[in-house]
Amino acid sequence: MNILNLLNNWNLLHNFTLLISQESIQQIQSRIDIIDIVGTFVKLKKRGANYLGNCPFHNEKSPSFTVSPTKEIYKCFGCGKSGNSISFLMEHEKYSYVESLRWLANRYNIELEETETSPEFKAIQLTSDSLYIINNFARDFFRNALMKTEEGNDIALSYLKERGFRQDIIDKFQLGYNPAARDEFANAALEGQYNKDLLLKTGLVVNRDERLQDNYRGRIIFPIHNQSGKVLGFGARIIKTNDKSPKYINTPENEIYVKSKILYGSYFARTAIDKANECLLVEGYTDVVSLHQAGIENVVASGGTSLTPDQLRLIKKFTKNLTIVYDGDSAGIKAALRGLDLALEEGLEVKLVLVPDKEDPDSYVNKIGAAAFNEFVKNNKKDFIFFQLEIALQDAGNDSSKKSAVVNQIAETISRINKTEEFTRRQDYIKRVSEMLKIEETGFNALVNKIIRDKITKEESKSFKDEVNIPVEPIPEQDTNADLLFNKDDLHEQAIARSLIEFGLKEWNEEQTVAQYVFDVMDELDLHELIDNKMITGIISLYRSWYEEGMAPTAKSFLYHDDSEVSQYIIKVMETDTEISLNWKAKFEVKTPTREELYKEEVTSTFNYLKLRKIKRLINENQTALEKATDTNQQLLLMQTHQYLKKMEAEIMASIGTVIYK
Ligand code: GTP
Ligand code: MN
Repeated sequence: MNILNLLNNWNLLHNFTLLISQESIQQIQSRIDIIDIVGTFVKLKKRGANYLGNCPFHNEKSPSFTVSPTKEIYKCFGCGKSGNSISFLMEHEKYSYVESLRWLANRYNIELEETETSPEFKAIQLTSDSLYIINNFARDFFRNALMKTEEGNDIALSYLKERGFRQDIIDKFQLGYNPAARDEFANAALEGQYNKDLLLKTGLVVNRDERLQDNYRGRIIFPIHNQSGKVLGFGARIIKTNDKSPKYINTPENEIYVKSKILYGSYFARTAIDKANECLLVEGYTDVVSLHQAGIENVVASGGTSLTPDQLRLIKKFTKNLTIVYDGDSAGIKAALRGLDLALEEGLEVKLVLVPDKEDPDSYVNKIGAAAFNEFVKNNKKDFIFFQLEIALQDAGNDSSKKSAVVNQIAETISRINKTEEFTRRQDYIKRVSEMLKIEETGFNALVNKIIRDKITKEESKSFKDEVNIPVEPIPEQDTNADLLFNKDDLHEQAIARSLIEFGLKEWNEEQTVAQYVFDVMDELDLHELIDNKMITGIISLYRSWYEEGMAPTAKSFLYHDDSEVSQYIIKVMETDTEISLNWKAKFEVKTPTREELYKEEVTSTFNYLKLRKIKRLINENQTALEKATDTNQQLLLMQTHQYLKKMEAEIMASIGTVIYK
């Protein structure tokens, strides 16, 4: 099972939660000061009740990044990013949930208590830990084989030296060699008591003839490191080029090695990328190693495939300037270009440099030296959009229908530069591309704008559907129409979760809290099955389990829940609240009663919607029974039931709409 699947599994998460105890999490929650945390990374200024700064997630000149200390959330009105302290750390520092908690615990001097976890989670944890350990063993074994054995020296080290790799660089990248014999590594690993199944998982060995044998015999080994330098997997290069077997083989994906999430060399490149404010992207392992050797360290490799969204985000974390350095006749160029529309959306500025004459960055830097290579890159950077246009135009030739396809395609690409602060940049592209294509600038501009508008409309109608919403105005009594109300099912379901979270701990009457009342009514009237939205069912049952364990759940408990879907959902609920209240004030310019003041009415009214829905269902069932009934007595009974239900419906309807939502 894949870790992510596991983490996304709702049940597993709240039955067993984390490695960190609930007490510790609560302790952290109570100490969190979002201004302090966000303020560590963003310069914030106080503006009324909130704090304002330049958004760290997109580039802007005037600040639209707002942090609310009372709600403990941030929101950027420019790019729309929002979240809580933990999601901020996850987004900004690219930490996992648990890493974020560790960071916070460290900051507030809280000692983390680790708890028992589910057997499955533990198994994965153990597997990952073991895979790291085996990979370390393997790396050391291969390094030793390269440096300390005759075979390694003669065959592999000599090859590397011949290619010009210096010893310090071989050491830095921890290059190694897998001996040519059938099972030297496998035997050493078994002798070291490493688990067979786990060894197979690393891909370094295979089961052949009922015994473990080495998979990468006679190959140079490139360890692949993650951000913190741990070895995730390996690339293995054949020494004597051989038509039959592939030049490179990578170890397979497993619990720790997820190819779409890493870039070769990123561990070694981070500081240099920061310094240069630019990331060079090359195709191959040897390109990275050679450029490092030449002192050009802001470089990572894609392995010749197109960049994934995760890889783009990884780069974006370091810099917004991405320069792709590929060999001119590489098949990899097209692959690289494929992922790049996404790069524009991420706000990356992408440039392209083609290395000439059958060279690749590795051979070219060896040929002309570091200084000349740097100079070459600087002078030959081509804007990615123009480059794409040139290639497309070449492909289209004189075919006019192909040419108009090119116009549309480039308009679509440019439309991805759609952040407000990128307006000038976009206009610049429109101007220059119109010139290159020899078309009317105004017409082309209109085309790009239309694509942007269409996209926004599409997204808005989508997010409108997803949005948490509560009716803003009271529904006039006479006009209430059950069918109309039922179309808003989802909203009313949300209202229950929301009442529970916000008012659950308040008193309903002398004996009961709101939460207890809600659960009682739901049990009594059997309303649970009426809720279709799984997220809401989940939130209600999570609330209930916390509540019944004697905890006092609040919005915060959900806000810091480790399932980001849950916390994101709760954030939306909280945001909606503010926006509605602002609308109201603007519209009526009067002081409106707060939801806080009206909480009992809100709970009642929310239930009325659910009760109505239940009655509607009962009416339908009754109707069906009536159609089928043949016995007169039975028909009479069903008709009476119908009237009774209708009366109840009317009563509830009459009381709906008397509550004013803020
Ligand atoms: P050298 O020939 O040693 O200089 O390597 P290179 O990096 O120049 O190789 P090349 O340009 O042919 O390939 C670029 C990258 O694509 C490599 O570093 C590998 O990541 C990947 N690659 C190349 N050949 C293969 C292959 O046969 N199989 C797989 N899976 N990947 C390959
Ligand atoms: Mn090469």
